[in-house]
Amino acid sequence: MKDYKQIIANKINAPLEKAELVSYITETADDNFGDYAFPCFKLAKTMRMSPVAIAEKLAAEITCDEDIVKAEAVNGYLNFFINRKEFITDVIGEVLSQEENYGNDTVGQGKTVCIDYSSVNICKSFHIGHLSTTAIGSSLYKIYKALGYNVVGINHLGDYGTQFGKMIVAYKLWGDYDKVQREGVAELQRLYVKFHQEEADKPELTEQARQWFVKIEQGDEEAKSLFEMFKEITLNDVKEIYKRLNVNFDSWNGESFYNDKMDAPLNMLREKGLITESQGAQIVDLKDYDMPPCLLVKADGSSLYATRDIAAAVWRKNEYNFDKCLYVVAYQQNLHFKQFFKVLELAGLPWAKDLVHVAYGMVSLEDGAMSTRKGNVVLLRDVINKAVSKSLETIIAKNPDLEDKEKVAEQVGVGAVLFSALENSKIKDITFTFDRVLNFDGETAPYLQYTCSRCNSIIEKSGMSRFTRIAHDIRALDNIETLRLCKLLKAFPETVKDAAYKYEPSLISGLLIDIAQAFNRFYIAHRVLSDNLSEQNARLTVVEATAVTLRKGLSLLGIETPYKM
Ligand code: ARG
Repeated sequence: MKDYKQIIANKINAPLEKAELVSYITETADDNFGDYAFPCFKLAKTMRMSPVAIAEKLAAEITCDEDIVKAEAVNGYLNFFINRKEFITDVIGEVLSQEENYGNDTVGQGKTVCIDYSSVNICKSFHIGHLSTTAIGSSLYKIYKALGYNVVGINHLGDYGTQFGKMIVAYKLWGDYDKVQREGVAELQRLYVKFHQEEADKPELTEQARQWFVKIEQGDEEAKSLFEMFKEITLNDVKEIYKRLNVNFDSWNGESFYNDKMDAPLNMLREKGLITESQGAQIVDLKDYDMPPCLLVKADGSSLYATRDIAAAVWRKNEYNFDKCLYVVAYQQNLHFKQFFKVLELAGLPWAKDLVHVAYGMVSLEDGAMSTRKGNVVLLRDVINKAVSKSLETIIAKNPDLEDKEKVAEQVGVGAVLFSALENSKIKDITFTFDRVLNFDGETAPYLQYTCSRCNSIIEKSGMSRFTRIAHDIRALDNIETLRLCKLLKAFPETVKDAAYKYEPSLISGLLIDIAQAFNRFYIAHRVLSDNLSEQNARLTVVEATAVTLRKGLSLLGIETPYKM
């Protein structure tokens, strides 16, 4: 693809470094005024002229050619018109030659990114509060892979803590092996809730739980095997959901994995004089950084969430030698990450700067948030199932003859749920509404999937295969709707990189929506299927390039595209 900014920069005769010049050139918001613009305000001081006069002077000096067909001065801006026909054929040629590799890159080659995401808690149901970390983390995983990075997906399981002592007590008092096996996490969850209800007036339960927890830590056989059973039940449950959501992990090393890996980092912090005692506990004082102390060892000798995260970061650095380690975790944990990142920085570890907390907002259903302890949770599985069955209803109504309706409904329902967590800037709190996320005409995954399937059916109806190689009439592409669509298609590879560097898959979602809308405008304005075959073939290439880009973009969000719907 031609680099128009560079081409334009070479034509501007201004007292500025080329790189700086390039950085000021922008795409115009209104294509009536050209395709690219260079604002002359920055030059007023050095050139001692008004921006209006500068623009006029520079415009007069520009020589047009087959790439830049017109340059004009407008109110202090230098506006450029590119050779639009050529631009359009270039973009489409590029997309069609790359196909499913469009948007891939090699920038990440030789670099490793660890992504800690989803990180569910053992014995707890997979509820809607875990949707965002799962969807965002999994999308970042796919995006970084596409850019050539070596990516390590880590599910930092919450499999350590006093609550497992409570679970054992609850299971031994009221649990039943068969029931737990049959009903899985739901039953574990019920036992956990019951423990909290009973604990209120039976304080001895708390003490028993504490003792069982100590037994887990000491590796007592019975405690260990019960704990392993709970873990297996939870993992069976979540893995089924991960499969439906297209989510993968390379490591399941959770908190308990670091049981025997905390001493070395703690000693290192001690040697560096960072650890002080406070009421029997060991802490790192962070007063100078306006933060409460980072608590690392309790008075009874037990470790904390932060201790495990410090051990995990050190272990990951040794094991993977990451260039970046991302933690996709809700903003409620901002302080925790700021604290332990700071501790590692104070320890003088140069890679502390490569730890990134990718924070996101809360998801709630229309009827409000949830609490695991009281048991009123909204299960992710229920949300997915409902989305899938509602999709099936829509599909049956819209296209009763469709084959594989169930499979398509699964792709649409799952896509809608994932997209709801990926459509807005990740830090925003969102309220999940079935009608909104499943609206085939809204800014949703089903809308994107539907647009894509529409492209497929246009191509199928044309009866033309491999039309890309058939001579076609590019004059049929010389119109504003095709130009606008092609500008968006061209933006795709840069957007993928931007999404990676800003940890923001929503940049891709947003572009895909724009592409689908631009495609629909193109389709309304220009008849694709017609008797004029060379015109038809030209327009079919636009349809195909749109489908390729939408499909690729959706795959980076973890969303499948049914061929028909
Ligand atoms: N299990 C935790 C939770 O559900 C998230 C863990 C995130 N990862 C980490 N390394 N702290 O809140």
